[in-house]
Amino acid sequence: MKTLIKNGTVVTAAETYRADLLIDGEKIALLGMDLPADGANVVDASGKYILPGGIDVHTHLELPFGGTVASDDFYTGHKAAAFGGTTSHIDFVIQGKGESLHQAVENWHRKSDAKAVVDYGFHVAVTDLTEAVMNEIPSMGKEGVTSLKLFMAYKGSLQIDDTTLFKTLMKAAEAGMLVMVHAENGDAIDVLVKQAVAGGHLTPEWHALTRPAWAEAEATMRAVALAGIAGAPLYVVHVTNGMAVDQIAYGRARGLNVMGETCTQYFFFSIDNLRRPDGAKWVCSPPMRTAADNEALWTAVRNNSLQAVSTDHCPFFFDGTKEIEYEGKMVKIAGKELGARDFSKIPNGVPGIEDRMPILWTYGVGKGRISLNRLVELCCTNPAKAFGMYPRKGTVAVGSDADLAIWDPTAKKTMGQKTSQQRTDYNLYEGWEVTGWPTQVYVRGNLLVDGDTWNGEPGGGQWIKRSTHAPVV
Ligand code: URP
Ligand code: ZN
Ligand code: ZN
Repeated sequence: MKTLIKNGTVVTAAETYRADLLIDGEKIALLGMDLPADGANVVDASGKYILPGGIDVHTHLELPFGGTVASDDFYTGHKAAAFGGTTSHIDFVIQGKGESLHQAVENWHRKSDAKAVVDYGFHVAVTDLTEAVMNEIPSMGKEGVTSLKLFMAYKGSLQIDDTTLFKTLMKAAEAGMLVMVHAENGDAIDVLVKQAVAGGHLTPEWHALTRPAWAEAEATMRAVALAGIAGAPLYVVHVTNGMAVDQIAYGRARGLNVMGETCTQYFFFSIDNLRRPDGAKWVCSPPMRTAADNEALWTAVRNNSLQAVSTDHCPFFFDGTKEIEYEGKMVKIAGKELGARDFSKIPNGVPGIEDRMPILWTYGVGKGRISLNRLVELCCTNPAKAFGMYPRKGTVAVGSDADLAIWDPTAKKTMGQKTSQQRTDYNLYEGWEVTGWPTQVYVRGNLLVDGDTWNGEPGGGQWIKRSTHAPVV
């Protein structure tokens, strides 16, 4: 089947130009002026922008965490992604203790394959680095799981030690794979959390007070330095503050292959949000920081100290004792109320897979903080390049997958839980007005979102086998 999108304005990381775009099957077949219809289904995109579909390289769908499970699964999370203009994501497989990496990946395939609607890949988080697991690493890369994640925080559950970090970096370098780190000093945080709880400091703001910015900066520099010694590329996830940015910039300035992302929420929120009566909604790790850090992150994405913006989508209900309706069914999943009396028991994570691109469109591009081309680079092209999916994904080019978001720059919407497809009972951006919305979203040529109409079918999304030896962006 062919679709001809006429008169749109194509936006890539490098260019903005008027063109017609022909989709043939799953691929972009032609880009040019005045392309003939030749029997194709014709769509008029006058006044609209054609962007590559967003790529979110940091998500946790259906993640077991903090005594419950993230409330979006691979269907609801994918539906939300598509409505927000995101057509691919990479989720974190978590290796259970004593489990092989292959078993862990198999577990995630069981959760995802039959539900998937958009395209998706996997990173694998190593939590138990035995000799056998070390030997498995290169085969993971060959099989398309080309990035490994290590948690330097969450002592007693996911946290690894420096030996594991360093050995993994060395092995990954040999195999052409990328190591990602959650960079916070989990040992120091563990001391501070225990001290706060013992002192009766139990409100959500203590989540931020016990996870200071220095704990993130220290772990970031440690990971950067160890990557330098190992000669390995490194990607630091969810960078929240100026001091942590400085460590990445320091490594890059000295020629290290270091990259970093921030997430949408860290541009806008601060510890003040945790001080609200519903502050648990903003509890995630690392925590929200200060207004000065919000600004430092905008500077970092402008000057390329950070190379990507993802979401760390890991939603929990604010009040999981109450049902919400999702696709006509009532659902409730235990959530942040688990920590109502103790901040250390609040499941860590926030929703955002649907919100990222529209929020950055209005409050990033619309406010003059980044250009539209930089938005594409941060949310589509750099993620595709750094994680071995380019040029199949992440750009608008002949031969690429027809993963496209057609944006109406005049469409107005009020963000909020009621209008969102994310399966949770709140939205971080409740009541925020946006101008600019992806009104048509294609995944490999299939029109999944057409205005308010949803055409997605569970099982239609494809697993992305990624390439090793991806470039550092
Ligand atoms: O609070 C967060 N970020 N939850 C998800 C797990 C992680 O650390 O990324
Ligand atoms: Zn993390
Ligand atoms: Zn995460």
